[in-house]
Amino acid sequence: MAGLAERTEPPLVEPAILRKAMSKFATGVTVVTAKGPRGWVGMTVNSFSSVSLSPPLVLWSIGRQSTRLPVFKAAEISAVHVLNHRQHDVCMDFTRNAHAFDREGVRINSSGMPEFDGTLARFECRRHAVHDGGDHLIFVAAVTSVTMSDTQPLIFFNGAFGSFEAKHPD
Ligand SMILES: Cc1cc2nc3c(=O)[nH]c(=O)nc-3n(C[C@H](O)[C@H](O)[C@H](O)COP(=O)(O)O)c2cc1C
Repeated sequence: MAGLAERTEPPLVEPAILRKAMSKFATGVTVVTAKGPRGWVGMTVNSFSSVSLSPPLVLWSIGRQSTRLPVFKAAEISAVHVLNHRQHDVCMDFTRNAHAFDREGVRINSSGMPEFDGTLARFECRRHAVHDGGDHLIFVAAVTSVTMSDTQPLIFFNGAFGSFEAKHPD
């Protein structure tokens, strides 16, 4: 198998190129929340994805350099809030400020957890696993409850925010 031994690994793509290519993959936008020693922390996240239906598992990834990492790493309970097309300000606030809860449209529910009025879906989760993901950590969470509404999503594509246009069958 001399040919195989001589084979070299293909070079890996540059981070900036990968970021640009991934921006062509349109996603929804979420805010993930968890409670830390100084109260609730939130973070805008678009790495959210489903993993498994049974058991019900979802994932998201967080940069290892994030100042919010210690809170999310320690949290047993978290919630993923899927933003609607009118919640661009919520999205932007939680990119910059982990504690941007003091706003209209946020309330604390009967379990003592924050909720944003009008979110498309909300997943309450408990910790399942944390995996290495290069310069990120991958959090896998078990979904304990969901709520949903019928508003329109906030979409992130090509570095910009927009809304969704449904194509209906002719
Ligand atoms: C649309 C969008 C999606 C994002 N998704 C993620 C993500 O999935 N994981 C992540 O670690 N940061 C993500 N970020 C960045 C964080 O929201 C936040 O800006 C970053 O964590 C700030 O750094 P800090 O946590 O050190 O304050 C995203 C930002 C935007 C605008």
